[in-house]
Amino acid sequence: RVDGRRLRFRLTAGPGLADLLPGRRTPAWGYNGAYLGPTLRARRGDTVVIDVENRLPVATSTHWHGMRLPAIMDGGPHQPIAPGATWSPTWTIDQPPGTLWYHPHLHGSTAEHVYRGLAGLFLVVDDDRLPSEYGVDDVPVVLQDKKFHDDAAFDTNGLTFGGLSITGLLGDTILVNGTYDPFVEVTRTLTRFRLLNASNARVYDVGFADNRPMSVVATDAGLLPAPVPATRIMLSPGERAEVVVGFTAGERVVLRSHPPALHANPVYERFAGGDDTFDLLQVRAAARLEPAPPLPDTLAAEDAARPGPNATARTFVLGDFTINGVTMDHVRIDQIVRPGAVEVWAVTNAGGFPSNGVPHNFHIHGVDFAVLDVAGARPPAHLRGPKDTVFVPPRTTVRLAVRFAGYSDPHHPYMYHCHFLAHEDAGMMGQFLVA
Ligand code: C2O
Ligand code: CU
Ligand code: CU
Repeated sequence: RVDGRRLRFRLTAGPGLADLLPGRRTPAWGYNGAYLGPTLRARRGDTVVIDVENRLPVATSTHWHGMRLPAIMDGGPHQPIAPGATWSPTWTIDQPPGTLWYHPHLHGSTAEHVYRGLAGLFLVVDDDRLPSEYGVDDVPVVLQDKKFHDDAAFDTNGLTFGGLSITGLLGDTILVNGTYDPFVEVTRTLTRFRLLNASNARVYDVGFADNRPMSVVATDAGLLPAPVPATRIMLSPGERAEVVVGFTAGERVVLRSHPPALHANPVYERFAGGDDTFDLLQVRAAARLEPAPPLPDTLAAEDAARPGPNATARTFVLGDFTINGVTMDHVRIDQIVRPGAVEVWAVTNAGGFPSNGVPHNFHIHGVDFAVLDVAGARPPAHLRGPKDTVFVPPRTTVRLAVRFAGYSDPHHPYMYHCHFLAHEDAGMMGQFLVA
């Protein structure tokens, strides 16, 4: 904190050697270090100033995923940072608490830059009466899957879309917060986990091995109106969820990813990871646990985005490399939206070439949205919170009530795209102006 309301962060995107596998060193990229980056925390009303210095040999960018900010601060493909250069975005936090993150977004390089290690959490925090002592009862869980060569270097084969790499690279090794075979010790009766799927292509269906109930308290963009019980929560790339879980003294239990229902055809299902199970994190409860106050019955959620009767409706059709039949073009503006508008966006996964069912998801910059329905049905309870990224199964339409932030800029676009990074890099991205 500099003057209490003005926060200055410095992020250096650079290469280094990371100890990811036991006793081995992996050439990796990270912010302020060799893998991933620091968790940034700010409150509503704080002014954020960040110097992002690029010490990589290639251009990159740093996008604030989930942040509602002016388009020119967004860090997308229009804000590249040349090698050796520093980019210094500034904005005032004007959104409710949530688990946001940052990562590169240079068109065509996003998959590689994230895979090599550039990603970090950006928490908007507040007194939410939930467990919130960072690293004690408020625990980040950044999920990533990797493939390693025998010499411990990252295997990047399959980073791009093609062949049997239907959705991009799937690794056989899970890292949590950059840690191989991780465990966490908990010391209180309730622990909050902030789950982030920061993987290129893997979808996780997260739940405990003993199916104990988790209370879902937040989705991508902020708190739910009330905690919702769930034993599993599915996260496609870019999605987040916060869950609060109870433990008893001395126990050990494993957080696991179960086979996610991708609804692809049986062959693609397998090649997209739909059959895979992974242990993610072992939780070890201390021999004595400090009692935590009970979870509140209601949470201080923002009112959900609700479209008016004359809300603008738009349709988006996801093909294999395309959205509405076209690939990303830096010059073409695909949509123009009014500042502060709430619109209804219907996103259809057409099924994929040749109509065989490739999974996709859909992320929109600078907004929060409510999922109105999935294939015409009300979404499951844990998908009813505010979001910015949603899974779109093959041959399915997902309708969203999208609320745009109030920043107007007729010259700089925001992005919407599939967050399977190989698909995004292949051109499944469009641009919109808020003006
Ligand atoms: Cu997480 Cu446009 O990105
Ligand atoms: Cu984003
Ligand atoms: Cu996709």
